[in-house]
Amino acid sequence: MATFEFKKLISEGIPAELPPLRPYDRELNHAPKRKNILTPGEKKLALKNALRYFNEKFHPVLAREFAGELRDFGRIYMYRFIPDYEIKARHIDDFPYRSRSAAAIMLMISNNLDISVAQHPHELITYGGNGAVFQNWAQYRLVMKYLSEMTDDQTLVIYSGHPLGLFPSHKDAPRVVVTNGMVIPNYSSQDHWERFNAMGVSQYGQMTAGSYMYIGPQGIVHGTTITILNAGRIVSKKGESLRGKLFVSSGLGGMSGAQPKAAKIAGIISVIAEVNPKAIKVRHLQGWVDEVITDISKLIERVMEAKKNKEVVSIAYQGNIVDVWEKFADEKIVVELGSDQTSLHNPWAGGYYPAGLSLEESNIMISDDPEGFKSFVKRSLIRQVEAINRHTRNGTYFFDYGNAFLLEASRAGADILKPDGEFRYPSYVQDIMGPLCFDYGFGPFRWVCCSNDPADLATTDSIASGILEDLIKSTPEQIQQQMADNLLWIKEAAGHNLVVGSQARILYADAEGRVAIAEAFNKAVASGEISAPVVIGRDHHDVSGTDSPFRETSNIYDGSRFTADMAIQNVIGDSFRGATWVSIHNGGGVGWGEVINGGFGMVLDGKADTSQKLRMMLHWDVSNGIARRSWARNEAAMFTLAREMKRTPEMKVTVPYLADDKLIDEILEGI
Ligand SMILES: NC(=O)c1ccc[n+]([C@@H]2O[C@H](COP(=O)([O-])OP(=O)(O)OC[C@H]3O[C@@H](n4cnc5c(N)ncnc54)[C@H](O)[C@@H]3O)[C@@H](O)[C@H]2O)c1
Repeated sequence: MATFEFKKLISEGIPAELPPLRPYDRELNHAPKRKNILTPGEKKLALKNALRYFNEKFHPVLAREFAGELRDFGRIYMYRFIPDYEIKARHIDDFPYRSRSAAAIMLMISNNLDISVAQHPHELITYGGNGAVFQNWAQYRLVMKYLSEMTDDQTLVIYSGHPLGLFPSHKDAPRVVVTNGMVIPNYSSQDHWERFNAMGVSQYGQMTAGSYMYIGPQGIVHGTTITILNAGRIVSKKGESLRGKLFVSSGLGGMSGAQPKAAKIAGIISVIAEVNPKAIKVRHLQGWVDEVITDISKLIERVMEAKKNKEVVSIAYQGNIVDVWEKFADEKIVVELGSDQTSLHNPWAGGYYPAGLSLEESNIMISDDPEGFKSFVKRSLIRQVEAINRHTRNGTYFFDYGNAFLLEASRAGADILKPDGEFRYPSYVQDIMGPLCFDYGFGPFRWVCCSNDPADLATTDSIASGILEDLIKSTPEQIQQQMADNLLWIKEAAGHNLVVGSQARILYADAEGRVAIAEAFNKAVASGEISAPVVIGRDHHDVSGTDSPFRETSNIYDGSRFTADMAIQNVIGDSFRGATWVSIHNGGGVGWGEVINGGFGMVLDGKADTSQKLRMMLHWDVSNGIARRSWARNEAAMFTLAREMKRTPEMKVTVPYLADDKLIDEILEGI
């Protein structure tokens, strides 16, 4: 389609005439049918809510059609309004705009909905089973229209995918402010999400889905590599490599699909179980997993062979993870590292497929017999934990991978708790990400080249690695390993062919690194060395962006891990320090009601005032979390804060005095 035609269609928003009905595309991966949860009165509301996007003359046709969608899929997606053009990242100037920053946001939205990037593209879901960009196609069309016509003196306000509208603001304000799933705390259970989402009034934005910051599975490969490398360091003798060792986990979906790739980079054999052949096919075709095995006996043989020859190979097992853990325990296969990345943040609606049911049987049961399905899931989790416990008794290091595995297994009644009520196994944040990364300010910084040109990405890679090479010279001992891992990562990143969708890169970095890299990009955009603006952002899964007691803040031990002040303060602070867009979400990673997380996007356009904004905003975006983690008495954060306050004398943070446990114990005993 010619660019002018594409621009016209974007600017049109909701078309003046009804587009023809389109057939349901069976080639695509679709979201499972959601459960029928609405009362008759609520169903009526859902229809009225959907129809308010359209002229009354279309209501007789659309009301019937939308009622059918609600019955057949449990949601009203408005499939008829899926655009005819290809939705994908393009050159920033291929989008129609009056504000170039708004065009960058269109690029980011388009990437999140690209059929080669998104998990369930026609249901507007980017990853994680229910991580939505919008609730329906009317919202998509309206948002793109608003972005195409807005100026730098307006801000677009988005409530859970719904564009409330454009409001006057000023050039230094965010161009877009997004909230997702923000409900009154008492109304934040899984079923509340089902109900509100079915009525079209709220959505689960996950982390980077509803905030337009998803960059394909690459976003998670780096973090997963860091996690596997450091988990490997826990089970290895000093200097010993991971060769010949085995990592077992599950899931080859949006995020979980990064596991075999990361394991390969880390140099360990991996077996990842996945029940959905479509998900396996995608990752295999992309070269993210080397081999696919469907027979469990063949899997055992292949793993024994790989261990014997110390191969570095990634294997997808098409089947249930429970069978792998059980069979490997029976056959005495030694598993050095183990985890799970099924979508247990969404246990009852297709995030976790229980053992004993086929994929198809599960999908039918989810909508037809939700209570029966729940029992299957619980029984399966109990079996999975029993098998994992057999392995850990023989030395396996098992960790929760941020998918609410421990939480849901404990709720299911599995043998996962210690006598003191704590989980038997750590979350990857407690042992690895928290103390080694977040407390030092390292997190998943990322960027996207708005020219959509691989040559610009190569330039940014080389700028970033030059900066890390410089910084590493003055790096304190505590973070030298981190810096060395990250430098190696950025040097090798292009060679790993990680780009799926937009020309993007992820690089874990601390405040100093993020600011230095962004500053250098801004200068390179100004000089023309990089041919178009660069968007910077991050995963919400970071130092300051997320309050999540069983994940990002699971290594906060002062009793404050159930508070969410940090995430809220973060997004407010980012918004007035220069972010181009900000977002704050209920839910993401571990489930609705379990986490509050936020993020930002910033367009580096080469201007001088952008340089000031990036310094202010990135500094706050990391320091907020460091200050909070330091107040929680986390040693690494106290070290990082002291170092930062030396570098930045205008920052004066309250630091804790450390009380002596012995003193308190003695006094408490006497009372
Ligand atoms: N560790 C992290 O940094 C991190 C980051 C983001 C997300 N997550 C969490 O990880 C989970 C997975 O995310 P995702 O985006 O890959 O989700 P996804 O839904 O795209 O993928 C999960 C996959 O697991 C498969 N699966 C479900 N039950 C199974 C079973 N019993 N055996 C084998 N396969 C099974 C599903 O078919 C699906 O393909 C989510 O809960 C997400 O929130 C973790």
